[in-house]
Amino acid sequence: MKIAIIGSGLIGQAWAIVFARGGCDVQLWDGDKLAVQDALKLISRQVQQLENQQLLTDANGVAKRIQAADTLESALDQADYVQENLPERLELKKEIFRTLDQLSGPATILASSTSSIPASAFTEDLPGRHRCLVAHPVNPPYLIPIVELCGAPWTDKSVIDKARDILRAVKQKPVIVHKEIEGFVLNRLQGALLREAFRLVQNGCISVEDLDITVKDGLGLRWSFMGPFETIDLNAPDGLEDYCNRYGAMYQSISREQTSTEAWDPALVAAIEQQRRSLVPKDELLDRRLWRDERLMALMRHKDHADSGE
Ligand SMILES: NC(=O)c1ccc[n+]([C@@H]2O[C@H](COP(=O)([O-])OP(=O)(O)OC[C@H]3O[C@@H](n4cnc5c(N)ncnc54)[C@H](O)[C@@H]3O)[C@@H](O)[C@H]2O)c1
Repeated sequence: MKIAIIGSGLIGQAWAIVFARGGCDVQLWDGDKLAVQDALKLISRQVQQLENQQLLTDANGVAKRIQAADTLESALDQADYVQENLPERLELKKEIFRTLDQLSGPATILASSTSSIPASAFTEDLPGRHRCLVAHPVNPPYLIPIVELCGAPWTDKSVIDKARDILRAVKQKPVIVHKEIEGFVLNRLQGALLREAFRLVQNGCISVEDLDITVKDGLGLRWSFMGPFETIDLNAPDGLEDYCNRYGAMYQSISREQTSTEAWDPALVAAIEQQRRSLVPKDELLDRRLWRDERLMALMRHKDHADSGE
């Protein structure tokens, strides 16, 4: 399988690792040639770290499957699947998709990593618009496998199915979002939780630290291996419907207070920032991010092991 990665920044590099780890040949292209060279160095470091954490057995082999492409044409030559990762600007997405559609073979799938722009906004006028879709990852996709697939109304179903198969073959967990919707699904769920978290802190119900404990030592423990529907299905003796009958009224009553659409209040944001900085000062944020990635790697090792015994 031949993959073209367009844009070698944070997300492009991570996608290159995903596909090369899955045995694909990867061509990496960026408008800035120096950016590709830097990306290759960072990729070598990242795959070595994955090997050190026993999440990869052949870091050198993976790195070798990723080649810098001198031109966009050479990156796209014979490509089965293209993953685009240019900055999040509509005009850029329109321009690059027009070029990708012109230069790539007729059967090539063209996917964008965009976090927020629906495929219909940048593919409408293209002759090959039926083979374009969004494949939205979570950073970094080599540690967090979910990918949201969302086509425009004119994307062929067979293209979405094929993209799903390709991503499954490289061990990602694609889900299909059937309608274009702002934020797709993952960020809408995150947004709903964040909105309530801000509100609870604003109302003086809980501190920032204790809110985070409620998620990481409460809800989140289950969420790393089952979702909210399975959670409630198992939380009433007779399953999901029984749960809804028992607790539906309580959730309805709570939801009456959860209707605000105000912007997050800057004074509240400043107060939450202050509480976070007293826990992790600004100059320790980078170390804390590295700590997060190590925790994620340990969790992936555990999940791989637990899933293999399922
Ligand atoms: N960073 C995240 O957490 C994240 C998560 C999911 C999705 N995404 C999406 O992934 C995409 C890329 O984000 P990123 O964080 O990797 O950005 P980035 O800034 O790290 O990388 C962008 C790359 O595009 C190149 N580039 C810029 N303009 C170009 C042009 N006109 N032609 C060719 N190359 C050009 C740059 O040299 C750079 O290497 C965005 O659409 C973003 O919404 C990002």
